[in-house]
Amino acid sequence: MAAKGLEGVVVGQSRLSWIDGANGELIYGGYDIDDLARNTTFEEVCYLLWNGALPNQQQLDELSREIAAQRRLRPEILEMIRAFPGDADPMAVLRTVTSALGMYDPNADDNSEPELRRKAILLTAQLPTATAAYDRIRRGLEPVEPRDELGTAANFLYMLNGEEANETRIRTMDVALVLHAEHGMNASTFAARVTAGTLSDVYSAITSAIGTLKGPSHGGANVEVMNMLREIDESGTSPKEWVREALGSGRRVMGFGHRVYKATDPRATVLRELADKIMAEAGETRWLDLSDQIRTVMGEEMEAKGKKIYPNVDFFSASVYTTLGIEMDLFTAVFAMARTPGWTAHLFEQYANNRLIRPEAEYVGPRGLRVKPIAER
Ligand code: COA
Repeated sequence: MAAKGLEGVVVGQSRLSWIDGANGELIYGGYDIDDLARNTTFEEVCYLLWNGALPNQQQLDELSREIAAQRRLRPEILEMIRAFPGDADPMAVLRTVTSALGMYDPNADDNSEPELRRKAILLTAQLPTATAAYDRIRRGLEPVEPRDELGTAANFLYMLNGEEANETRIRTMDVALVLHAEHGMNASTFAARVTAGTLSDVYSAITSAIGTLKGPSHGGANVEVMNMLREIDESGTSPKEWVREALGSGRRVMGFGHRVYKATDPRATVLRELADKIMAEAGETRWLDLSDQIRTVMGEEMEAKGKKIYPNVDFFSASVYTTLGIEMDLFTAVFAMARTPGWTAHLFEQYANNRLIRPEAEYVGPRGLRVKPIAER
């Protein structure tokens, strides 16, 4: 029997993260996600994923400096971004930029440990700059130069808006990055590892990952959640009616359900709290109120059907990002920026203990056919 969707198939070992789907728990490198989200920054989590331990102050300062030093886009990449269509999908932009970066790296094919580390830092530093630069260029604005003294979260918001965000917003962005940094053998990580498994290069592997994250069943769901919230808001239909109608016509409600979690995604719990804080400060709780109503109806509907479908990370990230002033179609690009340390950490593991990833398919086609001359077919 084919393992459709590879559900339950263990394809390798990893020290990076563990998901207890039944109990809604997630750990990165031994630490509970809740603890990390409350007490660390994105750079500390990068260090944890790349080194297997949390940094001391000196190690953190050094990594922060290394990331900051790699943020500026080379002129060729910036020119390329300027040439992209203004209505391009930002995920297509990141996919293309990542691929192009490989062409400018003379050591692209060197998969030695120091080179892997250098590329992990480079990609983690460049993706936020490329995302912000594309967004500003399409809005007819000049890209904003990154600032070395700011952390990834603060600098990203600064590059998007051209002004520094306040502490609540920076911390919210930082926690969102921490929450998205790593998540086991998910589809995009697997895609990255499959590419690396052929001994192809890091840029190719991350390009595969970005293309995979783009889909609405994976990272693209956060955009679809916002589409849903807007649609309900504009339609005048109650969330209850809308959800029932969607489920009745066989549609999936975006931001719910997960291959591994059969309980609430712990990342959604942290994001819900953040949403409360940032929306109260912004004086705009519309999206959160709507989200809460949808969650309640989905809870009732799924319980009635005996299904274990709960909110996932994308459900609340949509309204959090909207309140941060991030354009809806950038949400998945923000996910990609945040997941780069996780993807690259998996590549360290893959190259260190590689075996070509090559499953099989169960053949269900015909057999024994004979080729007829073309005139007789
Ligand atoms: N809304 C309504 N029903 C859902 C659902 C959703 N979001 N997600 C799953 N279900 C139902 C399916 O219809 C299926 O019902 P059935 O057994 O009666 O056919 C059952 O739950 C199991 O779904 P399945 O497709 O086997 O789960 P999966 O593990 O293959 O898919 C997702 C997981 C994430 C792709 C799926 O839950 C989904 O499409 N969610 C919406 C998109 C999303 O938010 N993605 C982000 C994930 S972080």
